[in-house]
Amino acid sequence: MTSATRILIDTDPGIDDAMAIFYALASPELEVVALTTVFGNCHTDVATVNALRLLDIAERPDIPVVEGAVAPLVMPYRGPVAFVHGTDGQGDVFLPPSSRAPLPTTAAQFIVDTVLADPDEITIVLLGPFTNMALAMMLCPGLTQHVKQIVVMGGAAFTSGNASPASEANVLNDPEAADIVFGADCPIVMAGLDVTHRITMTDDDLARFAAIDNPRAQHLAAIMPHYVRFYLERNGVHGIYVHDSTTISYLLAPELFSWRELPVRVDTGHSVCRGRTLPALRDSDEEGPWHGRRAVRILTDVDARAVIELELDHLSC
Ligand code: RIB
Ligand code: CA
Repeated sequence: MTSATRILIDTDPGIDDAMAIFYALASPELEVVALTTVFGNCHTDVATVNALRLLDIAERPDIPVVEGAVAPLVMPYRGPVAFVHGTDGQGDVFLPPSSRAPLPTTAAQFIVDTVLADPDEITIVLLGPFTNMALAMMLCPGLTQHVKQIVVMGGAAFTSGNASPASEANVLNDPEAADIVFGADCPIVMAGLDVTHRITMTDDDLARFAAIDNPRAQHLAAIMPHYVRFYLERNGVHGIYVHDSTTISYLLAPELFSWRELPVRVDTGHSVCRGRTLPALRDSDEEGPWHGRRAVRILTDVDARAVIELELDHLSC
């Protein structure tokens, strides 16, 4: 029997983050070693409390939570998106406080320590702005030579953005960090809007959560109406895009996806294109901005029905 893939999830929970975390926890193929938190959908302190509460619901007190950065590397935090995820980041259900506390270290330091303690075995899953991973790379140059793989929800290579016409939300929340992480020296998989906008959980799919008799599915059923309302009012979509869970589906079943492999840079300028993820579609000039960067595996298509069924199956356990 092959051993479970060890994953560290960096997250800004977030309704779709909660889905992804519960999906990972329900996957015997994955071992979640920690949750680290970051600003994004909500402030970092709210993200930390939510990470602890989600682990309470999942009855996983063994998994540590570590609080991360409260602001992007360079620019101020753009602020919470309560209209998407609720003022509490969890659909305004206002969960009870957790009895647990985060570990007394920083997410960046924790990422460094975790990777160095288990070289070549840790997969990092980024579900929020990439700030903590970028800080870890700055703390320990050469770190990513020892990372098994980084799988990110973020970016929009061949399609338009969602936080601006040019940029996806996690990247726009910290373009400088994203540009650092896309330059990492390990395999990188980008589950951006190119693929996540092809996966819509329909109202019928979502109704299936309510029928699943476990606390994780019941929590998702409780928080989902807020998210569904947002998609209907803002995008005219019936159902939800399954953003963050796509990273977990890829780890479980990469054969359900197709991709292109190209180096990626992020526009860190202060124009209308700030935060745009730019793949090198042709060979980069010697010493040009893409030169010497590893190709990123950019997910471009998916068997959407198969990944939705995969996730619903896992969440039913
Ligand atoms: O663009 C989608 C991403 O932004 C997801 O990670 C969602 O949780 C928000 O953070
Ligand atoms: Ca997220």
